[in-house]
Amino acid sequence: MSAKTIVVGNFKGGVGKTKVAVMASWELAHEMNKKVLLIDMDPQANATTLIARSAGITEIESSIFESFENSDLSKSVLNVKENLDLIPAAVSFKNLPKFLYGKFSDDIDQVSYLKTLLEPLKKNYDYIFIDVPPTISDYSDNAMMAADYVLIILQAQELSLEGAETYISYLQFMIDEYNAYIQVAGVLPVLLRPGGRVDHATVERAKELFGEDNVFENYIKHLERLKAWDITGITYKDHHDNRAHQIFIEVVQEMLDKIEHFEGGEVNGE
Ligand SMILES: Nc1ncnc2c1ncn2[C@@H]1O[C@H](COP(=O)(O)OP(=O)(O)O)[C@@H](O)[C@H]1O
Ligand SMILES: [Mg+2]
Repeated sequence: MSAKTIVVGNFKGGVGKTKVAVMASWELAHEMNKKVLLIDMDPQANATTLIARSAGITEIESSIFESFENSDLSKSVLNVKENLDLIPAAVSFKNLPKFLYGKFSDDIDQVSYLKTLLEPLKKNYDYIFIDVPPTISDYSDNAMMAADYVLIILQAQELSLEGAETYISYLQFMIDEYNAYIQVAGVLPVLLRPGGRVDHATVERAKELFGEDNVFENYIKHLERLKAWDITGITYKDHHDNRAHQIFIEVVQEMLDKIEHFEGGEVNGE
């Protein structure tokens, strides 16, 4: 087993990146019996908060920054439920840039540190998801270098592809500059506004830009329940919950199909 590593990307805040990273990890572990690690690379720790709340975890002893300092990611791996582990973030992680510049003089080493630390953990998982802040930064650079795939979020109600487009051009820069080995797993339309509809012109432009096959057929609808889970944690109590879970299960299935298609065969090492 060697994990497929996936970063959820878009250089804009509040587009649903964290929700997708958390829910994709959750459904793979819960519904599909895959071993999953979610890495929170955002000092704001939104993914950590949502997962902790959902799993009833009240105390986090060690977060990702301590692991970076000790050169051992396994120290901060937290089991949250069956099949699902988390490497939590905390505000201390804001010191990552200072730390990397102090530790390494070459920028290739600075951007490759997560990749180096992640290597020994890959054998323990089927999938690793990385949630990143919406900035071009050491956080996103390290995630891009460590990942095999990027799942790009498309704001399907906006008339521009801004955010997704910037992400793609920066990805190309990382490939040219540092030989990043990363492929687009797909472009996932997300609706964040209530009552919103998919803007088909935007989706069509995304298909032209990213390739017809790369844009997901499924999309993440706006659901109040998904917002409510920020407060209650992820639940399974009524048909609103079931509907929300079902949306992510379908998206994850489509993502696995896409990855399998790229790799021309079985992706789970089975
Ligand atoms: N599909 C959705 N429907 C309704 N609210 C959503 C949806 N996806 C995310 N949200 C809410 O929108 C806000 C931003 O989402 P988040 O995943 O944190 O975005 P990002 O990580 O891109 O900043 C959060 O309050 C979240 O609960
Ligand atoms: Mg986020």
